Parts: sequence; C-alpha cells; structure tokens
Amino acid sequence: MPRPDELEAVRRLRHQVLDADHANPTELKLSEIDKHPDVIHMAAFAGRDVICTVRLQPLTKGSSNYLVRKMATRPDYQGQGIGVQVLAAAEQEAIRRGVMGFSLDSRVKATTFYAKSGYKETGEQVIRDGDLNITMTKQVNK
Ligand SMILES: CC(C)(COP(=O)(O)OP(=O)(O)OC[C@H]1O[C@@H](n2cnc3c(N)ncnc32)[C@H](O)[C@@H]1OP(=O)(O)O)[C@@H](O)C(=O)NCCC(=O)NCCS
Repeated sequence: MPRPDELEAVRRLRHQVLDADHANPTELKLSEIDKHPDVIHMAAFAGRDVICTVRLQPLTKGSSNYLVRKMATRPDYQGQGIGVQVLAAAEQEAIRRGVMGFSLDSRVKATTFYAKSGYKETGEQVIRDGDLNITMTKQVNK
C-alpha cells in the first residue's frame, strides 16, 4: 500500500493515464475521499515510481460493499499482469477488513481486464466523466 506521502505520485499516474483522452481532467489534485481512513489505496512501484494504482472505497458510508475506482497502469507497463496483481492485493486488504463484495463502472475497453479478475457485468450502464461505463460486480466467496 502506498504511504500517505506517496499519494501525490499515485495522483500523478492517474492524471497521466486516466485523464489522457479527457477534455476535463479529474486528477489534478487529491480528493477528500483519497485521504479517508476507510479508503484502500494499492500501488505497484518500479523503484520510487508508481506504475500501477487502484482505489477501493465503501459504496456508502459503513457499507461492506466497496467500489473499485481509479485503476491505472502506466502505458509502458500495461499488459504484463501488474494490474491484475494490484487489484487482487487491494481486494485482499478489503476482505481482511470484512468487505463482502465489490462493484465498479468499467470503461468499455477495460471490461476484459475486470472479467479476468472475476467481475461480471450486471447489465447496467452509466456515463462517468463523459465515458460510457459498464457496471460490474464481484462477490467474495466465503
Ligand atoms: C485496464 C488497465 C488498468 C489494465 O492494467 P494492466 O496492468 O495492463 O493489466 P494486466 O496486464 O494485468 O492485464 C490482464 C488482462 O486484462 C486484459 N487487458 C488489459 N488491458 C486491457 C485493455 N486495455 N483492453 C483490453 N483488455 C485488456 C488482457 O486480457 C490481460 O490478459 P492477458 O495478459 O491474458 O492478455 C490498463 O490497461 C490501463 O491503465 N488502461 C487505461 C486506463 C483504464 O482504462 N482504466 C480502467 C478504468 S475503468
């Protein structure tokens, strides 16, 4: 997990990857959610550089369902299995804290990636930051 002083590097990676094709960048600064104690950040590093990141947050206050957001791998590290590992590590930490299920809104191009990690499409679609997103969920097997 990134330390609090590493979150700025996490934000910079998100800005590089997630804002790349967006007219309105959303990752110009860390949000209050980023600093909330219930929120789980996970990251992979190459040296001191953050090369992959994801954020998990309660769906609603106190919920045992968590929302997966801000998943991003630096372009030169994509397709090497790092994203799958970082997401799995974040889920494990959430499960350790008692989380029972995960949901997310996936950009259309990323649904294959999440399916590989066990997420299933619910049939719902939403527009998020101007993109069509496909809602996907995953339940924890006990
Ligand atoms: C989606 C993303 C986070 C995946 O990270 P990654 O580290 O490249 O993923 P992995 O290497 O662990 O990929 C595992 C599998 O996911 C699939 N996958 C990964 N990226 C994909 C992409 N862009 N399009 C389609 N499938 C993809 C592949 O099938 C891959 O399986 P394979 O190794 O058998 O080919 C990364 O491509 C990314 O940052 N994309 C841009 C930002 C984005 O779309 N984020 C998600 C927002 S909802």
